[in-house]
This record gives sequence, C-alpha cells and structure tokens, in this order.
Amino acid sequence: MEKISAIVLAAGKGTRMKSDTLKQFIEVNGRPLIAYSLEAFEKSDVDEIILVTGQNEIELCSRIIKKFKISRCVRIVAGGAVRALSVYNGIKAASGDYVLIHDGARPLVSQRLIADTIEAVEKYKAAVPVIPVKDTIRQISPDGTLMDAFDRSKLVGMQTPQAFACADIMKAYEKLTEEKYDFSHITDDVMVMEQGLGVHAHPVRGEEENRKITTPEDLEWLASHI
Ligand code: CTP
Ligand code: MG
Repeated sequence: MEKISAIVLAAGKGTRMKSDTLKQFIEVNGRPLIAYSLEAFEKSDVDEIILVTGQNEIELCSRIIKKFKISRCVRIVAGGAVRALSVYNGIKAASGDYVLIHDGARPLVSQRLIADTIEAVEKYKAAVPVIPVKDTIRQISPDGTLMDAFDRSKLVGMQTPQAFACADIMKAYEKLTEEKYDFSHITDDVMVMEQGLGVHAHPVRGEEENRKITTPEDLEWLASHI
C-alpha cells in the first residue's frame, strides 16, 4: 500500500476576513475553523497529517490537535511568507508517496472528495478538484478597461485538496527555488507543478460546499451550512 500524506495549511494572515482573531482559529459552532478540515482528514484514508501554521500559533495548534483528537497529525511546522512557501515547508516534513495539499480555510471538504482525489492521484500522479464557474469572468487591464470575456463553458474554479506524487511536487519546488522563482503570485499547487515540471493535473469533480472561507460573508454562509 502506498502511503498518503495530507498537508493542511493554516499559516495565512486572513487579511480579507478583517478579524482580530486569525481566520483559521475563529470559532464556528464551538470549533475553531481549522478543526473541521483536520477532522475530515482524520476520518479519511490518509496515513499522516502535517499541519502548517504560523510560528506563533504552533502551541495553539498543538492544543487543538489534542482537544479534537487528531491522532494522525504527526507534525506541526511553521509556514512561510506566501502560501507556496508554506506548502514547501509542509512537503519537506511529509513522508508519503503521495501528498494531498489542502487549504485549512476549506472546512467542508467531503469524504467523497478526499477519496476521489486519492484515487485520481494514484492513477494520474497529479489531481485537482474543479467546479464549474457560474459568473462570467473577464480580465481587467491596469487602467480599468475590460478585456474580452472568456468562454464560460470552458472555465472551471480550482479547489483543494490538490494531490501529487510527493517526489514530483518536491522536484518542482526545488527546481523553482534554484531558479529563484518568485512564488508571490502563485495561488495553488497546480501552478507550481506546471511552472516547475510542465505537468498538468487531472481534474476531479469538486463541490460547491468545499468553499474557501475568505470574507465575513463566507463565515456567515458556513454557520448556516453546518
Ligand atoms: N496560507 C498559508 N501560508 C501563507 C498564506 C496562506 O498556509 N503564507 C494558507 C491559509 O492559511 C489558507 C490557505 O493558505 O488556509 C488559502 O489562503 P487564503 O484563503 O488566501 O488565506 P489567507 O492568506 O490567510 O487570507 P488573505 O489572503 O485574505 O490574507
Ligand atoms: Mg492569501
């Protein structure tokens, strides 16, 4: 059996949430936000969980791990200045053949989605949940001019967990780090694989419920969905 690691990301600053408490620790129905995704991976078939958080939040996370009995969480590591660098720190601590990288800010990830992502990564080596786009999407130029609309039927929204063969995603990060690549505009791991190795991920059916909690409105949505 191949070993599966999950990296749960919780090292962001949550600036768009505009809250005094970091968004990953905001209590929703008596549980900190981060506990939801940790519990989802605890229940799943992953063999180990690596939690990535801010240096100052490691103690707090270790209390959360104990309180919610996340027995598969083997390590809590400090994150980096941008998401991709947090992921890189998590990957260095992972020992699986495959790794699932998940935004801790997506609390309602389902067992179906985790299982489908594992199945797809074992088959295709790189997998990502996607959902159809509901709005019409356009690019806007720096002077505020709208450019041509994209064909919505050909667009999808990217979710997590994004999954890769551990050795591949490690290689992609090492290569880009060597090239002094600027990770600041990277918002997901599929971008790292494409930039680093030119490898595309296989799409898996994502879920509306697997929404990323980003703004106060998302938090209200969450409270009414659990
Ligand atoms: N993240 C991380 N390390 C960073 C930045 C982000 O681990 N340096 C994590 C967040 O904790 C979150 C996930 O990446 O679980 C997705 O990021 P996002 O929703 O953008 O969260 P924040 O960066 O915290 O929020 P904001 O962009 O509003 O500041
Ligand atoms: Mg962010």
